Amino acid sequence: MSAVARETAGSVLPAVTRRWQAIDPLLPLPSAPETDCGARLVVTGPGGQPAAVGVCEHWEGGPEELDLAWGAARRFQLTPWTAGPDTGGALDQLLSVWRDHLAGLPGAGEEDTAAVVTWPCRDIGGVAALVRHGLAPFAVVAARMTGSQDHGGAPSATGARDADAAAGTPREGLRIRRAGPADIETVVRLGIEVIRFDAHFADVIDRPGTAAALRREAAALLAGPECWTWLAERDGNAIGMVAAQRPEHAGWIAPMVRLAPAAYLMFGFVLPTERADGIGSALAARLHRDIEAAGVAVTLLHYEQTNPLSVPFWSRQGYRPLWTSWEAKPAGTLR
Ligand SMILES: CC(C)(COP(=O)(O)OP(=O)(O)OC[C@H]1O[C@@H](n2cnc3c(N)ncnc32)[C@H](O)[C@@H]1OP(=O)(O)O)[C@@H](O)C(=O)NCCC(=O)NCCS
Repeated sequence: MSAVARETAGSVLPAVTRRWQAIDPLLPLPSAPETDCGARLVVTGPGGQPAAVGVCEHWEGGPEELDLAWGAARRFQLTPWTAGPDTGGALDQLLSVWRDHLAGLPGAGEEDTAAVVTWPCRDIGGVAALVRHGLAPFAVVAARMTGSQDHGGAPSATGARDADAAAGTPREGLRIRRAGPADIETVVRLGIEVIRFDAHFADVIDRPGTAAALRREAAALLAGPECWTWLAERDGNAIGMVAAQRPEHAGWIAPMVRLAPAAYLMFGFVLPTERADGIGSALAARLHRDIEAAGVAVTLLHYEQTNPLSVPFWSRQGYRPLWTSWEAKPAGTLR
């Protein structure tokens, strides 16, 4: 964090910490990005005391990065801290200060850019201000505490509802098995399908470098003796997948949640012709058994706010919203 940000943040962080703890016990202690642009983004209250402080980070993805598939190539990311009690008013003013900062930056109006604010889902007092400034909700980070029930409903006579019956046991030609390094082509193929499906929701992009980046990620997911990637197969053909990073590889997202250790569920996918038959639930249940046996406290995942399949599906598997990524694209369209 730059000296400017450190100096101003100190005045609001105790209040932000108290407010976050009150609205959502899963929120972490507020922390700043490691690097920021050094802009002074401060809103003062009636008595001259800071009411809101923002830290702005300018991010640019390299062509080989998988992260490029999950948003714009160039992102201006605001970390906003509002002290309250008027969260909406303070955020409104902070977004105006940030808008003026972005307006002076070369390239903020280019097509493949986004202004991004990651805001706690339960901090509902800020939503109207975010909308007023032209930001729309895209990706959600959802969390499942270990021990949460899978709300999959009653076992189906014909489907694969019963995870234990499905796991490793042929049932109408269906088998669920742990993947290994030899499955890399399958994992890349199904991973690309997830990205193409999520591309409908205007946040995820299948770029020229995505397949190669995904191959590197798949190799990491499949490494080790007991990887957390599970495949569903019918008559030997892969029809579904779920894949997660163990806590030692999920450190990049762990600071977003108070509990530790945290795992990250990266992919869930079932072929369109095989959906709504309990296969996704069976895969998730099998993975959750691994996660629970490893003593993981919380599992995080992303879903697109407007994905009509993943939002209810992951809710039924015990995940609930924690953070929403609000974006204006291009960045210069921030109002
Ligand atoms: C999300 C996804 C993995 C779910 O897989 P799935 O195999 O369809 O999941 P399930 O069948 O276990 O559950 C889905 C729905 O089917 C219903 N269902 C389950 N078994 C059923 C059965 N035997 N008969 C009829 N419906 C059934 C479930 O009730 C569930 O609906 P609900 O959420 O309203 O309860 C799948 O829809 C998918 O691949 N979507 C596209 C990619 C995607 O969005 N991935 C997630 C990115 S974050």
